[in-house]
Amino acid sequence: MKKITFSTKLPLLLVSVAALGAIVAGCGTTSSAPVENTFQDRGRQLFNANCGTCHKLTAAASTGTQGPDLDDAFAAARAAGMDDDTIKGIVRAQVKRPQDVNGDFAGVTMPANILDGNDLEDVAAYVAAVAGVPGIEPPKAPGEGPGAQIYANNGCGSCHTLAAAQSAGTLGPDLDEVIPNMTKAEIDEAIVDPGKTIAPGYPNAMPTDFGSKITPQQLNQLIEFLVSSAAADAKGS
Ligand code: HEC
Ligand code: HEC
Repeated sequence: MKKITFSTKLPLLLVSVAALGAIVAGCGTTSSAPVENTFQDRGRQLFNANCGTCHKLTAAASTGTQGPDLDDAFAAARAAGMDDDTIKGIVRAQVKRPQDVNGDFAGVTMPANILDGNDLEDVAAYVAAVAGVPGIEPPKAPGEGPGAQIYANNGCGSCHTLAAAQSAGTLGPDLDEVIPNMTKAEIDEAIVDPGKTIAPGYPNAMPTDFGSKITPQQLNQLIEFLVSSAAADAKGS
């Protein structure tokens, strides 16, 4: 799996968050802007980029099934009084030296050292803070429907502007402008095979692994979200 760390992602996020603050202020909306710089948001993004393809975790809205469900993995221990620090230590150790913790998953092994240093600390602290916590929900992504969450989880907004998602990235085309002129098939191809047609004037810089990270059902929900919100934004402006 491609390793995504914040050494490359952070500048994009900072740009989009700064611009996002401006948008929110500009509309005079009362809802607070999503905050991207708390350790939980950083941990969640690292988790979604590096762990969520294999692990289900409610707080991150991830649905991977190759590895154990991490809410199930820690719920009982947490209920029995295990504290966050202990869980953090278990997660950290598992990422450094994956063990076959569960016979059901024998034969599939978790890759070692997917993350290290601060990235590992943050993802471990994040999992420790949220895994198996009763009643925990993912932070609500701006926008309507399940596609809004998929857009948020995959970091589309760090590179693209889409008013409905309150995202203001500028590395890629403004989706409010281009989506209304694209068919669903063209949008699908732009997401799963971005190198095939490059939008004129833009770098060939869109990640190439969405086809494996986003399930076909999620892709349909994402496309629905893009089409419906770009149309609504165009009408509203
Ligand atoms: C390619 C799939 C894959 C990825 C990516 C992956 N894991 Fe795993 N993980 C597994 C599997 C499979 C297991 C079960 C043990 C085994 O067979 O290796 C596991 C086990 C675990 C466990 C132990 C769960 C328990 O029941 O005690 C934790 C914690 C964990 N992973 C956390 C993470 C974190 C954090 C990341 C990201 C940094 C991550 N995993 C990335 C596949 C993956
Ligand atoms: C790291 C930055 C980056 C991320 C993350 C990213 N994109 Fe892109 N995207 C680009 C760039 C740059 C282009 C223009 C080059 C190209 O066409 O591939 C582009 C092109 C596109 C296009 C085609 C636009 C056109 O005018 O043809 C669509 C649609 C799109 N992206 C949607 C998405 C969606 C949905 C996501 C999240 C699943 C996403 N992008 C994630 C950078 C990104």
